[in-house]
Amino acid sequence: MTPRAPHAFAAQWNHNTHYYPLLRAAIPETAHRVLDIGCGDGTFCRFLGDTPTRSVVGVDVDRRLMRPGDPAHYVLSSAEALGFADATFDAVAMTMVLHHVDAETALAEAVRVLRRGGILLVLGIGRYGGPPGLPWELRDAVAHRLHARGKQAWEPPTTKVDPVETWSQALMTARRCLPGCSWTRLPMWRYLITWTKPDAPPHSREDT
Ligand SMILES: C[S@@+](CC[C@H](N)C(=O)[O-])C[C@H]1O[C@@H](n2cnc3c(N)ncnc32)[C@H](O)[C@@H]1O
Repeated sequence: MTPRAPHAFAAQWNHNTHYYPLLRAAIPETAHRVLDIGCGDGTFCRFLGDTPTRSVVGVDVDRRLMRPGDPAHYVLSSAEALGFADATFDAVAMTMVLHHVDAETALAEAVRVLRRGGILLVLGIGRYGGPPGLPWELRDAVAHRLHARGKQAWEPPTTKVDPVETWSQALMTARRCLPGCSWTRLPMWRYLITWTKPDAPPHSREDT
């Protein structure tokens, strides 16, 4: 049997970095301009930025996290009021930031700066909403025990807050703001939203 390759973040592992390879794989090679909203210390930007043809921009409100000299370009900006023109990016990622911000405004901004046909990826977390969620909690705890083995737990220097929305509320917000999105509850207390910006607005002038 071929031994499994070590996880890319085995030495810097947490429930977010665990999914960075999955997120990176979901961004097409053809995405040259990528935005990471709420980039924190830029770990995901650096992971994305090793493609010579790709320019990665990270935005965050926390100035002390930004590292001058990184291959990625960092901008101090709020997720709710991004300082970029419409349709600037081929792909937009938000990892563990939606519960820090006004989710509807931030998603509208992410959609605005994304070009048509571009992909939006949101890794997020919900709050335990009561006993019907117990099987998920159990699954997440077991998955944590399995995945954490042999890895070094890593605590990034970023601000953390507890989510206010339950998992089902987070799902409803996603469906409301991103019609047609895919929403998957991932092991270890995370969800993933994948959404492709439609090629034409649903009710364009041509329809009337
Ligand atoms: C839990 S950290 C996640 C950081 C990084 N994306 C990761 O995966 O580790 C949340 C980040 O959101 C940032 N943040 C909070 N409010 C924000 C806002 N209004 N606009 C942009 N970033 C914000 C925080 O400064 C912090 O870096």
